Amino acid sequence: MKMKIRVGIVGCGSIAKFRHAPEYHENPNVEIEGFYDHNVERAEALAKIYGGKVYSDYLDLIQDKTIDAISDCSTNETHHIVTSAALKNNKSVLCEKPMTTTVENANMILETKKNSKGILMIDHNQRLTSAHIRAKAILKSGELGKVITFTTTFGHKGPEYWGADKSKNTWFFNKNRSVLGVTGDLGIHKVDLLRFLLEDEIVEVSAMAGSLNKRNANNDLIDVPDNMVCLLRTEKGNIGTAAFSWSYYGDEDNSTKIYCEKGTMMIYDNPDYQIVINKMGKEKICYELEQIQSNDNQTSTGVIDEFIDAIISNREPVVTGEDGIMALKIVEAAMLAAETNQTIKIDLR
Ligand SMILES: NC(=O)c1ccc[n+]([C@@H]2O[C@H](COP(=O)([O-])OP(=O)(O)OC[C@H]3O[C@@H](n4cnc5c(N)ncnc54)[C@H](O)[C@@H]3O)[C@@H](O)[C@H]2O)c1
Repeated sequence: MKMKIRVGIVGCGSIAKFRHAPEYHENPNVEIEGFYDHNVERAEALAKIYGGKVYSDYLDLIQDKTIDAISDCSTNETHHIVTSAALKNNKSVLCEKPMTTTVENANMILETKKNSKGILMIDHNQRLTSAHIRAKAILKSGELGKVITFTTTFGHKGPEYWGADKSKNTWFFNKNRSVLGVTGDLGIHKVDLLRFLLEDEIVEVSAMAGSLNKRNANNDLIDVPDNMVCLLRTEKGNIGTAAFSWSYYGDEDNSTKIYCEKGTMMIYDNPDYQIVINKMGKEKICYELEQIQSNDNQTSTGVIDEFIDAIISNREPVVTGEDGIMALKIVEAAMLAAETNQTIKIDLR
């Protein structure tokens, strides 16, 4: 019989409820051991559905010898604390994105990981969608020639429609907790995706950002960006744009367009075809693949299966801590670029 990986979840809000817990439950190699949340009712609600204990402190869960792996689904400002503590206790960790709110804190996690027996994966789930996997293979095959330019966007109507606290009090709007606003929430997915698809590094960024629309409980505009538009240059010399928004008050937009020497590739831009290739206007190839998960359409992300398989196979997962830190460096640089109205170079070391 195959070994079961015994899992605990820290943070029992929306991402745990809609993705981590159900996907662990579906994985035949997982035993869910328990849950912890500052808000005990949220932990109890998940334990009621999936079984397992409700812990009264995150350290009790993390130090529990019966647990092999944890999902860190806590809020952004505590990832470095929870994830580092778990790695220190030799647990494998699936840490939600953004890995942390600062590169400094992400480095702290990587330092801890050096002496840990656990593996570390960051939940940049966009790498695992079928269209993104296919798009990467198409680019790699060379059938479209070299990439010249690109544009990517991720926007929806805002985290106050998604998080456990569906109000203007949501932590996503709180500068001390979310820190990076929409850039750390949605932008980080797309910069990681660009690195993955293009097999290239983003080396320079300029950006404009603003708190254009969202208001906090005092009815003041929030003090983290709710919109950002970036210009990006890659190490191979390509240039492109990226836009992130919490104020797309219609369908989510999670599209990426790649313009190459011999044609164009539109990903998640057409409701029926998840990839549309157009070769010089002469040949059109449409791929009907799975729709991307959205806040209103929760299908399996494949993230949990990848994490568990990486633990069982004792291999690096598809998104490493180093990937998490690179995405964070780009996001931090974009925030600085917007604040200082300068183009910022990104330290690739
Ligand atoms: N990968 C994705 O696509 C994706 C999507 C949404 C959210 N996220 C990330 O998941 C994390 C959680 O987001 P969410 O949408 O579930 O938010 P949420 O507000 O719905 O839930 C967060 C939960 O964590 C709890 N919490 C906070 N700090 C804690 C701590 N130190 N210990 C225990 N519990 C703690 C809160 O009480 C709350 O119940 C965030 O980092 C967010 O960026 C990732």
